[in-house]
Amino acid sequence: MADTTAPAPPLLISGGDVVNADQTFRADVLCVDGVIAAVGLDLDVPEGTQVVDATGLLVMPGGVDTHTHCRLPFMSTVAIDDFETGTRGALCGGTTSIIDFVIPSPGQSILAAFDQWQEWAADAQCDFGFHVAITWWSDQVEEEMGILTRERGVASFKHFLAYKGALMLDDEALYNSFTRAKELGALCTVHAENGEMVYRGQMKMLEAGITGPEGHPWSRPVECEAEATDRALRTGEFINTPVYIVHVSCKEAMDVVARAKAAGQVCYAEVLAGHATIDDSVYFQEDKRAAMHYVMSPPFRPAGNPDALINALAAGVADTTATDNCTFCTEQKSMGADDFTKIPNGTAGIEDRMSVLFDRMVVQGAIDVNKFVAVTSTNAARIFNMYPRKGVIAVGSDADICVMDPNAKRVISVNTHHVKVDFNPWEGREVTGVPAFTVCAGRLVWKAVIADGVADWAAGEFSGVKGSGRYIERPCFGLPFETVPVTDKLREKQPIQRAE
Ligand code: URP
Ligand code: ZN
Ligand code: ZN
Ligand code: ZN
Repeated sequence: MADTTAPAPPLLISGGDVVNADQTFRADVLCVDGVIAAVGLDLDVPEGTQVVDATGLLVMPGGVDTHTHCRLPFMSTVAIDDFETGTRGALCGGTTSIIDFVIPSPGQSILAAFDQWQEWAADAQCDFGFHVAITWWSDQVEEEMGILTRERGVASFKHFLAYKGALMLDDEALYNSFTRAKELGALCTVHAENGEMVYRGQMKMLEAGITGPEGHPWSRPVECEAEATDRALRTGEFINTPVYIVHVSCKEAMDVVARAKAAGQVCYAEVLAGHATIDDSVYFQEDKRAAMHYVMSPPFRPAGNPDALINALAAGVADTTATDNCTFCTEQKSMGADDFTKIPNGTAGIEDRMSVLFDRMVVQGAIDVNKFVAVTSTNAARIFNMYPRKGVIAVGSDADICVMDPNAKRVISVNTHHVKVDFNPWEGREVTGVPAFTVCAGRLVWKAVIADGVADWAAGEFSGVKGSGRYIERPCFGLPFETVPVTDKLREKQPIQRAE
């Protein structure tokens, strides 16, 4: 068994082009003791250094997936990919850090939930941070938010406006949590779908006899998301606290974000690799098993929306990309075979995000490689206060690196992926852009087998170490809060002094 405590030997990535968010340059990268020790040409290399030949390849920061749910207990079951298998997929796919979600049950101590998630995450093979969901409100929650930010390295909270009767927050609780988070300097993130509208939509479908997976997108159309996105952003505007909208899935909601940004509000939008590359036709196919596997929220959207999300990333309206990786196998999905509202929500993606987006964005000319790095790691690291430890190839940064072969192809399939779930949403899709090597904390953990420009994905060598992932403590008052003191001051009102 691999020794998780033994330091990795020095590693040199030689001959590649280093790609950061701001520039591309020819350089070798020397990794020592888990961090980047040198970047340049003709480096002095210690004896015994392992060499990775990156000639013709792009040496970029390892991906940061800002939205994963490993081992999530959800909708009467538990997501099948846990921290061991989820992060295994991540590393094979060039992602070296994740931010997962602690989701306390309403009424549960958020501190106790955090401790529980830390226990589950002990199996992680790459570094991980946590957003903590606020699913109810009380003095205890308010108090524990302070402890999480001051003593546990939590710098972001999550708010669900969907999942009525379960995780959904009402406006009062949302307001309380935003206010408290602002005080603590923590970023408010929001799942923006109007839970009441969704619930009514679901009832309407069932009353009409629509019980199959097609009822899922029909019950929660884009107006549910646009309304909640606007409500979340307006609440943030009123309180003057930054807001990050997770998984923006449609043009209508993205337009709301664009409006807020254009009005000067500090806000951010995340796009999922799935929403950006798959449309709602998946729900209407003959194969019901496959259709059920695509049930996630927000749902995949009508054609045109995926391209709008890509354009938003290219234009800077959207900031980050993630996956919402939350996997359930066929048996679990079948809990809702006769009632789509009981299908556990979630799909895979953690392994394929970098390839799928490289193919759709860089290969198809939507953005350049530097912007690719920005939206797959750098922006996330900056917004969530992990920069420059993550999100850049620079001396002193963690040696978390994705060496991408920009010309190699691979075909995505459940038969070759490295996560546990028995379905892949991009089944059969050929993509150009293959993570040839992944380096995590200075250790070579993934080596693809590529012959004649085609990767044999199943044959790749994975050598990650269960439990080697470290918790990323994130301080509060990061980049999103930089302008808040000034704008608070500008918004101060004084009584008008009137003559008696
Ligand atoms: O369908 C999804 N996205 N499942 C995970 C929970 C959530 O809404 O993020
Ligand atoms: Zn969500
Ligand atoms: Zn999610
Ligand atoms: Zn497998």
